[in-house]
Amino acid sequence: MTKPKLATERVTLTRTRYGADGSPPEPVLCDVSLEVAAGEVFGIIGPSGAGKTSLLRLLNGLETPDRGRILLDGEDISGLDTIDVRRRVGMVFQTPALFPGTVGENVGYALEIADVPGATREAKGLVCLDRAGLSDDFWSRDALELSQGEQQRVAIARALAAEPEVLLLDEPTSALDPSAAARIVDLVGSLRRDLGMTIVFVTHLMEQARRICDRALVLVEGRGVEEGEVAALFDAPSSEFTRLFIQGRLDGGRR
Ligand SMILES: Nc1ncnc2c1ncn2[C@@H]1O[C@H](COP(=O)(O)OP(=O)(O)O)[C@@H](O)[C@H]1O
Ligand SMILES: [Mg+2]
Repeated sequence: MTKPKLATERVTLTRTRYGADGSPPEPVLCDVSLEVAAGEVFGIIGPSGAGKTSLLRLLNGLETPDRGRILLDGEDISGLDTIDVRRRVGMVFQTPALFPGTVGENVGYALEIADVPGATREAKGLVCLDRAGLSDDFWSRDALELSQGEQQRVAIARALAAEPEVLLLDEPTSALDPSAAARIVDLVGSLRRDLGMTIVFVTHLMEQARRICDRALVLVEGRGVEEGEVAALFDAPSSEFTRLFIQGRLDGGRR
């Protein structure tokens, strides 16, 4: 790969696990390395509790690794302004945390944070909605009365407001019914195709990863067990874990 867009070099994140009983903290992530090429959809696959969300939080500076480096365009993000990193690397959480008010207010607020002047906010916001597959009439609708799938699209539109170079999506379909989930999967494809966006897509669903991702990292108990082209992961998994996971013989997680 020529210089990756985003990479981690042996990152380790240690914190006390839930329900710690005085035992020493275990690493949530241990020596995880990955390389995401510009313009690809990169999957992070693994069961519940594997550390997928923690890894995403490291990638946009919401958390800091105890060891290892995170590189954005080859630059260690620990030397960059955190606000800037979060602007360049947008994140959509598992359940869309919209605030009460209209869709326009939700997206408009993100545009304000991104320093878009008031006069051009609505026009820009409508472009973001369109990119997220929502028509103009959603602008004045009450955000919390939309369906889960529509709310997830608003969350994506909001993340697009800052014009991020990389979009991190944390199991964006887990709260959705199958048809709404399929539309989000299509949307991810079009963000890559039409905007050339680099996307990191977390999922515990192997079939979804196969459909949507170019390459992926399989994460188990905080360690990367293999990274490669999705087709190769499926056809010739090099780890026993991946083989069992593909066959659906391991818990894929329900979160
Ligand atoms: N804020 C937190 N404080 C302590 N432990 C946490 C916290 N968030 C997650 N963990 C623990 O870290 C591990 C990985 O969690 P997470 O990154 O959420 O995994 P995943 O997204 O793959 O389900 C789990 O053991 C989880 O219990
Ligand atoms: Mg998670």
